[in-house]
Amino acid sequence: MLGIESSCDETSAAVIQGRTVLSNVIANQLLIHRKYGGVVPELASRAHQQKIVPVVEEALTLANITKNQLSGVAFTRGPGLMGALLVGVSFAKSFALALDIPLLEVNHMQGHVLAHFLKKPGEHKAVPSFPFLCLTVSGGHTQIVRVDDPLEMRVIGETQDDAAGEAFDKAAKLLGLPYPGGPLIDQHAAKGDPDSFKFPHPRIPGLDYSFSGLKTAFLYFLRDQEKHHPSFKQERLDDICASLQQSIVTILLEKLVLASRETGIRGIAIAGGVSANSGLRKALQFTGEREGWQVFIPPFEYCTDNAAMIACGGSFLFEAGRFTGLETAPLARMPF
Ligand code: KG4
Ligand code: ZN
Repeated sequence: MLGIESSCDETSAAVIQGRTVLSNVIANQLLIHRKYGGVVPELASRAHQQKIVPVVEEALTLANITKNQLSGVAFTRGPGLMGALLVGVSFAKSFALALDIPLLEVNHMQGHVLAHFLKKPGEHKAVPSFPFLCLTVSGGHTQIVRVDDPLEMRVIGETQDDAAGEAFDKAAKLLGLPYPGGPLIDQHAAKGDPDSFKFPHPRIPGLDYSFSGLKTAFLYFLRDQEKHHPSFKQERLDDICASLQQSIVTILLEKLVLASRETGIRGIAIAGGVSANSGLRKALQFTGEREGWQVFIPPFEYCTDNAAMIACGGSFLFEAGRFTGLETAPLARMPF
């Protein structure tokens, strides 16, 4: 199965056999967007056009197969940036048509969840059994997903405003760190004291999240501190990052604990770019031991956007005979 991912700022192609990853090539556009402080949709789209063919060629070469050995082409239909998705969708359609093999459309967020079923060659590892809960945290989404089957998932809680990744990135921007700031906050947090500063905790009922209040509080916090202490950010960067990261992680885990208690489900997974965060990974292990969970944390390369997870989604669709017609089109918003 060939997987194609182009929903945001990574052009990726992967080849899997069963659920085993034979190759997973990711062309990152970081340097293109960094000077603008965020992803510029038109530039992302143009970069995808330049990268899609070489990335697919490399994925086939590394997998040591020819395109004629493929059984299907899976692609991200949405959600994502329209112009970026369009490149991957058009390529996947043309490729499947030319090879006369099935086309499979995958929801990007479901792909993140299904990354838990990927294996490296020769690897034997436990995969989640159904049902399980997956906290899916990325730059655009924060969701608690109830997974009853690879193709049967439901969002039971989600953010009402900003995503967790957005909270990391916006806070990083206020601290003067380059985009995307999430990984940099993570690095500074490792050197700081998480109990240095306290930030407000949102009061949102049920299993939903909110991060916009934290973002505003963080803005005012920095402004107030800098009034008395102009070099506050520079001098206390590690402590600020550690405290902010602890706040975000605490908010994320609180609702996950509630969701587990409410549903009685104890298989708990995390997915999406923010699942690469070391504070979240540690806290999940710790909370999991306390709550008696079986915890699933993806390897780093399957946390952020990649095509292996899309190929994995495609393989489940293939087995279910759920093929896509050539009339398919990208969806900027795509419900599960
Ligand atoms: O899943 P992803 O690669 O793309 C989307 O679908 O959005 O997630 C990207 C997000 C960005 O907000 C980035 O800052 C965040 O994941 N991220 C992190 C870390 N690595 C990536 N946030 C916190 N700590 C990290 N180590
Ligand atoms: Zn993603």
